[in-house]
Amino acid sequence: MSIQRFTVIGAGQMGSGIAQVAAQSGFEVRLHDVKEELIRKGLAGIEKNLNRQVSKERISEADRDGVLSRIQPAVTLEEAANEADIVVEAVVENMEVKTSLFRRLDGMCPTHAILASNTSSLPITEIAAATQRPEQVIGMHFMNPVPVMKLVEVIRGLATSDAVYKTVEELARAMGKTPVEVNDFPGFVSNRVLMPMINEAIYTVYEGVATPEAVDEVMKLGMNHPMGPLTLADFIGLDTCLYIMETLYEGFGDSKYRPCPLLRKYVKAGWLGKKSGRGFYVYEK
Ligand code: NAI
Repeated sequence: MSIQRFTVIGAGQMGSGIAQVAAQSGFEVRLHDVKEELIRKGLAGIEKNLNRQVSKERISEADRDGVLSRIQPAVTLEEAANEADIVVEAVVENMEVKTSLFRRLDGMCPTHAILASNTSSLPITEIAAATQRPEQVIGMHFMNPVPVMKLVEVIRGLATSDAVYKTVEELARAMGKTPVEVNDFPGFVSNRVLMPMINEAIYTVYEGVATPEAVDEVMKLGMNHPMGPLTLADFIGLDTCLYIMETLYEGFGDSKYRPCPLLRKYVKAGWLGKKSGRGFYVYEK
């Protein structure tokens, strides 16, 4: 199946990145969010990113204008959905919001359309079950920041067809990304491996083994990680880290995934990392 019309739902940090990369790869993109001003904000962010690429002479002004002209704001969901070959959903990480959205998209999209979710932890199989086309529902998990990061974790739900998997794999390649096939289990691969490491790093601070700076230094210099796990946790958001640990803990029922009490305490205090100005480190607003 060939993809030409690419719809992105959610114009936040991930959705606008996905829309940008899709348009830069030559697709006709429609971008939707709950309010027009949020779509405008997403578009302004994309323009700022592209201007930075122009100033670094990575793309020309004509390239930038071409990319922007390929992204159409879609104020209603109907307008976003009615001609789509694929929809990539990047709205809040909440099962009820996602299932209700997929149910509506299922009723509005052409019958051939693929419905993909950028969820970082929610089960694709459950999202798919809200539609009448579970074989055409799949996970397309981009990494943040989307224009920079090479990986797309492609998650097969229980019912996802081989043909749909293949189309999405080719689409990820056409977007300059490297797809990796993963089955639908809590945390997929990326967060199942990453989050317990971050959680363990938090335990070492909680138990007084070392300071956050020392933990990060060990992992950077000793393991060649570009960024220490606690700095990374602050970037991801400590609320998101806790949410994913809870998904792993509930999903597997295994105590090895129990979230560190210090992580819970920070989240309760509103210390959510970079976005709130304080997490394991303090940030200037
Ligand atoms: P965000 O908060 O920046 O953006 C979410 C956007 O969705 C907001 O603009 C919001 O208005 C919009 N939205 C909410 N409900 C909607 C609805 N019913 N219809 C249309 N738009 C709606 O969130 P972010 O970080 O972009 O995350 C989006 C998704 O991507 C989540 O599922 C998250 O787990 C996943 N993700 C996030 C990563 C990250 O590092 N932030 C990395 C990989 C995946």
